[in-house]
Amino acid sequence: MIQTIEKHQQDFDARIGASTSLDELKQMRIEFLGKKGCVSQFMKDLRSAPPEEKPALGKHINELKEHIERLLTEKTEELEKKSAGASGAVAGFDASLPGKKEIAGSTHPITEMLDEITSIFFSLGFQVEEGPEIETDYYNFEALNIPKDHPARDMQDTFYIEEEVVLRTHTSPVQIHVMEKQKPPLRIIAPGKVYRCDSDISHTPMFHQIEGLMVDENISFSHLKGVIQIFLHQVFGEKTEVRFRPSFFPFTCPSAEVDIQCVICSGKGCRVCSNSGWLEILGAGMVDPAVFKSVDYDPERWTGFAFGLGIERIAMLKYGINDIRLFFENDLRFLKQF
Ligand code: PHE
Repeated sequence: MIQTIEKHQQDFDARIGASTSLDELKQMRIEFLGKKGCVSQFMKDLRSAPPEEKPALGKHINELKEHIERLLTEKTEELEKKSAGASGAVAGFDASLPGKKEIAGSTHPITEMLDEITSIFFSLGFQVEEGPEIETDYYNFEALNIPKDHPARDMQDTFYIEEEVVLRTHTSPVQIHVMEKQKPPLRIIAPGKVYRCDSDISHTPMFHQIEGLMVDENISFSHLKGVIQIFLHQVFGEKTEVRFRPSFFPFTCPSAEVDIQCVICSGKGCRVCSNSGWLEILGAGMVDPAVFKSVDYDPERWTGFAFGLGIERIAMLKYGINDIRLFFENDLRFLKQF
């Protein structure tokens, strides 16, 4: 038996010397040290060996086992080092994997649109003002000449926090804050978030508006028309047709809704403009004397105009987006396009 053991050891030594891959070493570990391997077999044979030979045989078998284990471990380490060196890697680092890309952030399309609109009005001498998103009934409605029974005050449209406290439904209350603080002449825009209890393909409970207000002596409707026209031409292009339609807002008189020729069909009529050829883009009008009275401006001396526009709506028309909810889903595939 001792000879057989030695023969196996020679056999093992020859093979490990010639081995070049980790797979080979794995295979050898099974063959020599596995359950059905030769070392196990020698252990079994040992049981039936004559008692006086057992100690010497046992020693030989153990030495063979240790020898095989040691050489397998050494050779495995050697081959692992070699393969790591070949790919230029250190432990735990695989240079062949694709690198991680740094993803640079970008501004949200609404912010982008807001910046663009703000800079147009800035070039026309308007200053930026801000107001609170949580408003009292007085600023959101009362001071803007919106009577108690006006449908805008309905719980269906307005988020009430308390009986007299609401999330502002428009940016118009900033008009009141500004006029309370400043004396005319003034020329401001007020961008910000507004809230209405509404949600579908063209409404989200929160959206953005920009309010405009200009007050001075001798301000007339033609100033309003001029400013709005310049603004819309800059956003949608010089050739865009603009029209003013008579409308009603409690805080302006006369009031108008402003349309541009449909940017999708150029006025021929399509699904987006409901076949009218026109798209409603903002509300505007001359400041109602009742509003001037609530801020202690003399309506005999001062006149002015105001307008309010939805930023999402303008961005949707400008970029051809058909669902307003896309702006707030934070889907990078959508946001990356801007
Ligand atoms: N506040 C109005 C709205 O949200 C828009 C508007 C602003 C109309 C200023 C006229 C003047 O619909």
